[in-house]
Amino acid sequence: MSANELWGGRFAKGPAEIMERINASIDFDRRLYAQDIMGSIAHSSMLMAQNIISKADGEKIQEGLQTILREIEAGNFKTDPALEDIHMHVEARLREIIGDAAGRLHTARSRNDQVATDFRLWVRDTIDHLDSELDDLQKALLDQAAAEADTVMPGFTHLQAAQPVTFGHHMLAYVEMFGRDRSRLADARSRMNESPLGSAALAGTSFPIDREMTAKELGFDRPTANSLDGVSDRDFALEFLSFASICSMHLSRLAEEIVIWSSAQFRFVECSDSFSTGSSIMPQKKNPDAAELVRGKAGRSAGAFTSLLMMMKGLPMTYGKDMQEDKEPVFDAVDNLQLCLAAMSGMIRDITVNGDIMTAASGAGFTTATDLADWLVRELDMPFRDAHHVTGSLVKLAETENCGLEDLTLAQMHSVEERITEEIYSVLGVENSVASRVSYGGTSPVRVREQIALWRSKLADKGN
Ligand code: ARG
Repeated sequence: MSANELWGGRFAKGPAEIMERINASIDFDRRLYAQDIMGSIAHSSMLMAQNIISKADGEKIQEGLQTILREIEAGNFKTDPALEDIHMHVEARLREIIGDAAGRLHTARSRNDQVATDFRLWVRDTIDHLDSELDDLQKALLDQAAAEADTVMPGFTHLQAAQPVTFGHHMLAYVEMFGRDRSRLADARSRMNESPLGSAALAGTSFPIDREMTAKELGFDRPTANSLDGVSDRDFALEFLSFASICSMHLSRLAEEIVIWSSAQFRFVECSDSFSTGSSIMPQKKNPDAAELVRGKAGRSAGAFTSLLMMMKGLPMTYGKDMQEDKEPVFDAVDNLQLCLAAMSGMIRDITVNGDIMTAASGAGFTTATDLADWLVRELDMPFRDAHHVTGSLVKLAETENCGLEDLTLAQMHSVEERITEEIYSVLGVENSVASRVSYGGTSPVRVREQIALWRSKLADKGN
């Protein structure tokens, strides 16, 4: 059957070949097959329940749809660009299998509400998968955080050594980010969980349909309240892509850190062989390719978001064929995000942390200067601004002497501030510095362990 037979009543000629090519979406929207069939089963159940079609026809339709589902799943489904999209393919195949009764399935429905429903269902299923992939990544990060809760590393601002922190604390920062990503997913899911089915072409229908029934059967909370909005809304895909862009950005930042940390200049971590490649010319090289690709692919999610947003922004109510362009960006973003999440979980699980190197580096750059200033405030009752000034002079002195703050003698310190005592040395070591940061959310191993325990119970409660 050609597409013409489905909508061709008023068309004299078949489409030009180039028209067929620009019009066809089957090559990508075949990914919606399961949702399309589910939607049609729900729709036909409702048509039967409302006596809009006979039970006999409805049952034939449903058996036929199940057969098609099995055919597609077994890889035995031929596609034809003349049939445009997955919706027409399923209907055309249904007609081949059950004959004329197939024509009754589309009663009180349009491809406009059909595609809006299918795509929502697909995005909703994807959200559920991604949530568990994010859960997996959070667990990988938590395991590293637990193993390295006491490992001191330099904390950076401006990529300049700032204050010592712990690697566990650093891992937990990403656990927070991915936690927000999951909550964004949950928000988007609950907002999108309304059924457009029954909006029909745009205006609703004169048939006595039961939209509550189809909504419920498809796991939606309720039907959409405005049929015009029902067929033309793609906010759910945009919200999803906005989540994907932000989540990819988080992955990319972590990837960038892995690239930096695994360089010969840092050597804070080593990526496992399974997530690295060698160089064809430089035998010494081990490149963090997986991390670089995660970083590189992040641009695609943002691109997908922009492309869908731009596609939508000029569209008058309601459906426009432009909207067929909504799917590829979403599919591309999902495929890449899933790859990146899996690669990142693997990298984090396998990474070797060079704790000694990190700790040795964490004193460089006078990272305990703040501890020194705080000591002056606490012990000598100096105003913080004065303490900042005194510490600055001590840093300058250490720089001149080419040594660390802890290597300055008491006599040298007295040349700047004579009230300083031996006690000062207790705060200058990086371990002491880290241990003292006990404020809520701080880097002290005590606080880090509390947060790990909190996160573990949060994740267990979510039941993934
Ligand atoms: N393939 C189309 C899409 O993805 C299905 C909806 C077609 N509707 C229409 N009125 N031509 O948007």
